[in-house]
Amino acid sequence: MPSTPRRPEQTTADKIISIVPSVGPTTQANRAFLGKAVSLLAEEGVRQFVDIGAGLPTQDNVHQVAQRVAADARTAYIDNDPVVLVHARALLEDSPGTKVLDGDLRRPKELFADPALREHIDFDRPVAVLMLAVLHFIPDHDEVDAIVATVRGALVPGSYLLLSHFYTPDDEQATVRAGAKVYSATNSGSLTARSLTRINGYLAGLDLVAPGLVPVQAWRPDWEEDAVVDLSVPGLLGAVGRVPQ
Ligand SMILES: C[S@@+](CC[C@H](N)C(=O)[O-])C[C@H]1O[C@@H](n2cnc3c(N)ncnc32)[C@H](O)[C@@H]1O
Repeated sequence: MPSTPRRPEQTTADKIISIVPSVGPTTQANRAFLGKAVSLLAEEGVRQFVDIGAGLPTQDNVHQVAQRVAADARTAYIDNDPVVLVHARALLEDSPGTKVLDGDLRRPKELFADPALREHIDFDRPVAVLMLAVLHFIPDHDEVDAIVATVRGALVPGSYLLLSHFYTPDDEQATVRAGAKVYSATNSGSLTARSLTRINGYLAGLDLVAPGLVPVQAWRPDWEEDAVVDLSVPGLLGAVGRVPQ
């Protein structure tokens, strides 16, 4: 009798999905949030985008969305994962107006001082900085509040901060700890989900674009059902904030 093949090992993504089943659709909703927000800001006249923790290139990357509205939009993609950087350089860097840079959000002063970034992006003019699904990879001991403050300090009025962050209501901490254990075996390190209060704190002093801080699928949703904001379950919250005058 032919031997029965072994089931392939679960990938990290499979394990995360088994712990938090909504992760798959949430990841898609996060990319949809990126698309809607970048498109909106390009329509509002923003021409410079800095995508920190950009991840592997996929469909509708920031520069593609922005350049659909404004062909002269410039984008800097920043990541600290060598594998991501190799793929991003191969797939994105030949596109006009884009640059791929090695940078670590845990060292924001160094990241913003990078001459290659400053050559590509003019920080004396409004810039949209994206930190989507990346801040939760920075543990509290790396002073995430100070990191966000440094990023905001680099932005002139009229700039925007786009944020998405893994959220948990307190009683879901056990799930998040399990998720963190899986992620700690990957390049991204451990995952720290945070409360509504903490995530709101990163947006303090910014003028929030409607609908404010909500689950990513509820940010200007395409479908009525997605407009429901249920904060009793873990998920990814997203917001767009404008640096006021
Ligand atoms: C889950 S992916 C998010 C990708 C994309 N921003 C999105 O929302 O679809 C997180 C990315 O953040 C990057 N990352 C994690 N920690 C980082 C850090 N300290 N500095 C820069 N990038 C980081 C990882 O390498 C990974 O590519």
